[in-house]
Amino acid sequence: MTCSHVTLAELVASAELHHPDKFFTLGLSTGSTPLGCYQKLIESYKNRDLSFKYVKTFNVDEYVGLRDHPESYHSFMWNNFKHTDIHSENTHILDGNAADLQAERDTFEEKIKVAGGMELFLRGIGPAQHIAFNQLGSSLVSRTRVKMLAMDTILANARFLDGDLAKVPTVALTVGVGAVIDAGEVMTLVTGAHKAFVLYKAIKEGVNHSGPCLHTQCV
Ligand code: GLP
Repeated sequence: MTCSHVTLAELVASAELHHPDKFFTLGLSTGSTPLGCYQKLIESYKNRDLSFKYVKTFNVDEYVGLRDHPESYHSFMWNNFKHTDIHSENTHILDGNAADLQAERDTFEEKIKVAGGMELFLRGIGPAQHIAFNQLGSSLVSRTRVKMLAMDTILANARFLDGDLAKVPTVALTVGVGAVIDAGEVMTLVTGAHKAFVLYKAIKEGVNHSGPCLHTQCV
């Protein structure tokens, strides 16, 4: 797996070189697509090829009201990255159970800013073309915010919740498209024939708000 000319593992490993001046800041997403990539990173950690001690992570979205559920993005990330040496204080995930979602949003934006933005944003794309929970029509300059989920996003995510539409939250917190655009590099992962059209649009069409997958160059 490559990101421009260097491997992701090399980028993460280079965090040790940055330290103590700077941590390597990684934007991460959920869904089934990045799982293989996370497993490779965990394997590299176990083989002592890299360490996450000097890595900060920012997760790009979270459902509202599902934090302690096994399918929450908190659970998803912890189930993967607990197998590495990342320090929990360096992992940042929006709290969808926060009493004040606007304050949670502001705090998260501030933390991204203090960390110096995301150096690498590793993202999947939903079959409904959503990135994180930025759905069709999301502004190119949008920032972290509360979003109502569109029916096609709910349909796409029901498979994680027993296929039951009623179990999929209708509200979520998500970073904005602006955070994707601001990232130093974006690695886009797309797998499966059902995403062929999404990939086609990402490669062939220009940058515009009618398809969040189009907002950055795909590799
Ligand atoms: C969810 C996440 C997105 C992710 C998408 C893709 O909707 N909120 O961040 O990109 O799933 O899921 P998958 O990779 O399983 O198709």
